Amino acid sequence: MKKRLLIATGGGDCPGLNAVIRAIVKRAYQEQNWEVLGSIDAFNGLLSDPIRVVDLNLETVAGIHVKGGTIIGTTNKGGPFSWPVQQADGSWTTKDRSQEMLQTLKELKISAVVNIGGDGSQRISQRLYEMGCPIIGVPKTIDNDLSETDFTFGFQTAVDAATDAVDKLVSTAASHHRLLILEVMGRYAGWIALHAAIAGGAEVCLIPEIPYDIHKVKEAIDRRLASGKKFANLVIAEGAKPKDGEMTYVESETPGAMKIKLGGAAFKLSRELKEVGVEMEIRETILGHLQRGGRPNAFDRVLATSMGVKAFDMVLNQEWGHMVSYRHPNMVSVPIKNAVRKYNLIDVDSDLVRTARGVGISLGD
Ligand code: F6P
Repeated sequence: MKKRLLIATGGGDCPGLNAVIRAIVKRAYQEQNWEVLGSIDAFNGLLSDPIRVVDLNLETVAGIHVKGGTIIGTTNKGGPFSWPVQQADGSWTTKDRSQEMLQTLKELKISAVVNIGGDGSQRISQRLYEMGCPIIGVPKTIDNDLSETDFTFGFQTAVDAATDAVDKLVSTAASHHRLLILEVMGRYAGWIALHAAIAGGAEVCLIPEIPYDIHKVKEAIDRRLASGKKFANLVIAEGAKPKDGEMTYVESETPGAMKIKLGGAAFKLSRELKEVGVEMEIRETILGHLQRGGRPNAFDRVLATSMGVKAFDMVLNQEWGHMVSYRHPNMVSVPIKNAVRKYNLIDVDSDLVRTARGVGISLGD
């Protein structure tokens, strides 16, 4: 009888997910005794009644490496440890259904699970591993905030989208003599913002790792105007916050969903700049999910494919509780618990930050 591998993609989608799925299936089919299933919408497919799993074979994964999204769906709601349940009074609570899910895996005769996801998904992987689940993690996120890997796939494609936006905003800012603010994703990390600001040549870049002083931001804009340029471009990470201030977010009401939804940093900054006397016309652009959707670039296709092949090799080696990691130029295996211990944030003393300062980008400090 063939051995069965189950793949799940969890959390926000990310360019490159399909390339990982395809690589795992292609590599698995090189062995004669493996078949692959996909759980629809992360592990929620296993927790649904009836369960929602699909066969993944050479036919179903043909050509999908160039496509955005994930062919097996994803979600950042629910999951084995926080399944939403409505109570008699209409209010919602969450329930731990992990034992039930492990039982379903047994009934489906799954001998290995590959969970492709960011820090939330890998925390789930770690907990399942501690309960005896034979699980391997693959790091995914446009935010690049997972530790123990040089890069996560999807990040470079997101940076391309953000850089393209900066390029476009520079030309319209110049034509209209405006200050244009671009808000990009990244959660608590400023990787996308800082890369796009350097690549696109913004004047100011505000990241969560360096809380900004609004007066310093104004000074940078004043210097720009004094130099004779009549426009400026500013990139702000959604998680950026003023000194002594808070990040801009809303608390989600959705049961079993992530509690905090970041967003609105650009509008807040715009208000603050007007309050301290910036007189230029200011406009805001929120790039949003354009950073997440669409085709992965070539770098992310190669990274995602390499991670998929490595994940299956780790399955063969039974490296349960480990995550694929990119340590240039190699793919290595690291304990999942190390990867989720802390976020991978920008080191404020790193060469990346020095590079930004070196070309005159103000970081608002
Ligand atoms: O983690 C990826 C990410 O795109 C973050 O950059 C962003 O804060 C969040 O997901 C948005 O999630 P949602 O699509 O649920 O709004």
